[in-house]
Amino acid sequence: MYFLCKKLSKTLHWSYQQQSIMKKNYLMAITAVFAFIVLAAANTPPDEHKAKNLKVLPKDISHEELDKVMDSFKAALGVKCNFCHAQKKDDPKHLDFASDENHHKEIARDMMRMTMRINKKYFKDHKSKEGEAVMAVSCITCHNGNKHPVAVAN
Ligand code: HEC
Ligand code: HEC
Repeated sequence: MYFLCKKLSKTLHWSYQQQSIMKKNYLMAITAVFAFIVLAAANTPPDEHKAKNLKVLPKDISHEELDKVMDSFKAALGVKCNFCHAQKKDDPKHLDFASDENHHKEIARDMMRMTMRINKKYFKDHKSKEGEAVMAVSCITCHNGNKHPVAVAN
């Protein structure tokens, strides 16, 4: 009986040690994962503002610049953002700016390419006092606040 008890207590002791080692490993694993997440978050800039689907504008455009361009589109055509941007599928109250579902977005891309080409080809000498190329023709030149530019004067 004494022998059995001793054996049992040994086993119990052993399993207690084992458990505490496992607990330690577990804690270390958790700490490592957590440290990794914190490091990863610190190393990558906040991603929510980074544009993911630019095909015409420079991919490294700043958030402020992108905002300015988008506001100029809005004003030039007299529309809201949702004229070119589709709704989020899982949250229709918000827009999915990276999505290409709304066909006006692709038309706008073509318009951007066309406008850039017109400036490059026919207005290459238009420079600001500082010598930077300026856009002689922009969306508003034709659209003048309308979705559909007036085609013919009555
Ligand atoms: C006339 C159409 C048009 C309007 C209006 C418009 N956008 Fe855009 N937007 C575009 C196009 C085209 C692109 C993609 C440009 C490219 O491919 O380089 C774009 C891209 C974006 C992107 C980058 C998305 C990504 O992750 O790639 C954001 C953000 C955005 N628009 C926000 C806005 C906001 C906010 C408004 C309203 C103030 C707005 N847009 C109004 C046409 C439009
Ligand atoms: C040289 C003149 C000109 C310039 C510059 C121009 N557009 Fe257009 N755009 C037009 C014309 C004309 C139409 C109408 C075509 C039609 O009715 O089929 C149009 C149509 C559009 C449409 C489609 C509207 C709809 O209801 O289907 C979008 C979107 C658009 N333009 C965006 C832009 C954007 C953004 C810019 C600047 C990057 C721009 N356009 C610059 C002439 C121009």
